[in-house]
Amino acid sequence: MKLWGGRFRKEENKLMESFNSSLAIDKRLIYEDIIGSLSHVKMLVKTEILTETEGNKIIEGLNSILADIENEELFVSGDYEDVHSFVEVNLIKRIGEIGKKLHTARSRNDQIAVDMRLYAKKKSAEAIEAIELLQSSLKRKADENAVMMPGYTHLQRAQVVTFKHHLMAYFQMLDRDRKRIENAQDLMNESPLGCGALAGTTHNINRDITANELNFDKPTDNLLDGVSDRDYLLELMSHFSIIMMHLSRLSEELILWSSQEFNFIEIDDAYSTGSSIMPQKRNPDSAELIRGKTGRVYGDLFSLLTTMKGLPLAYNKDMQEDKESFFDSIDTTLSCLEVMAPIIDTLKVNKEIMEKSVKNGFLNATDLADYLVKKGVYFRDAHSIVGSIVIFCEDNEKSIEELSLKELKSFSSEIKEDIYEYIDYHKSMNKSIKKTLLK
Ligand code: ARG
Repeated sequence: MKLWGGRFRKEENKLMESFNSSLAIDKRLIYEDIIGSLSHVKMLVKTEILTETEGNKIIEGLNSILADIENEELFVSGDYEDVHSFVEVNLIKRIGEIGKKLHTARSRNDQIAVDMRLYAKKKSAEAIEAIELLQSSLKRKADENAVMMPGYTHLQRAQVVTFKHHLMAYFQMLDRDRKRIENAQDLMNESPLGCGALAGTTHNINRDITANELNFDKPTDNLLDGVSDRDYLLELMSHFSIIMMHLSRLSEELILWSSQEFNFIEIDDAYSTGSSIMPQKRNPDSAELIRGKTGRVYGDLFSLLTTMKGLPLAYNKDMQEDKESFFDSIDTTLSCLEVMAPIIDTLKVNKEIMEKSVKNGFLNATDLADYLVKKGVYFRDAHSIVGSIVIFCEDNEKSIEELSLKELKSFSSEIKEDIYEYIDYHKSMNKSIKKTLLK
């Protein structure tokens, strides 16, 4: 079942054989491998390297393998070195000697390179779809909840924001994630098929035909680069890492907000789990898992970066290790995007608790300082005056708006009756740039 036995005087060691086999991993490229082969054969016919009869026979054989796999009559398993050997050996079994012509003017090096590009293109499109779905969940939940909440810096209450605006921050992050992937799709859209092992071929092939047939913009310009470039995988994995970082930040907030200490939201039962010992527990496992899996996706990126860093041109077998990292990275990212969307859809927002917590923590202190500035006080002085007011409030267990005008005036004579309107949380939301918080 080997594609390369000819020059060997000895059998391959059994342990080496299983060590070398990648079928268990690369079998998921079966569709891309056959599609790539089909376009290769069509090109070989057009360039008269194969006759039409030969081409048709091979095409028929490849299509029948594909159909049998789809119908679950044929399974991609067995003692094959890789997915390419599986297809070629099965083709020869089905159509006989002519099948041996399939690999004319091709190497497994450009073959795997084109398979992976096709797969990466397909999966990045799925990632964009999943991002857009999550974005619409966030937008819906945001629109339903234009409610006030404390905004934080250093996880200390800072100024009033809205839950809507807070959620829409994640919408924006995901928007950049989508654009980054679109950029990567653009860059990787070149076909390495026809680069051969590393130095092309003496056959008069036409790389434009296969590039066109497989929906690539053009063939890669450099043959050595074409077979040994894994940048596009690293780029996608970097983008997946950034997506996961965003999902992990959102998860962290969901976990915090659903704690009794915050009690801003409830994660639906369907996305929570219980404890085997503590009957009262409802744990935000879905969000914790997303936060945890982020580490795996970072690891996948670093694994391939490290594999690639010392490799001389062109192909080296080390590169076979790209698959486990890339597959894990895309699978994990997709599943996290998919799970986050219904978590957001089913999220219960405790509006009253959010609004109530705005009243504690002097979230209108900056607005009061702004008020003083408008009355002619220098900002640095206003800052200091409000600082003293906050201490006074703390000592007397009051909020700023609960102080009497007389009390307020004792800190600055510039403070007038109109102050109460100015530091009202609802009203200040309609001032200037703050209107953005309602969008
Ligand atoms: N299984 C290999 C990979 O995934 C395919 C290319 C093998 N080429 C070779 N000359 N051994 O990278």
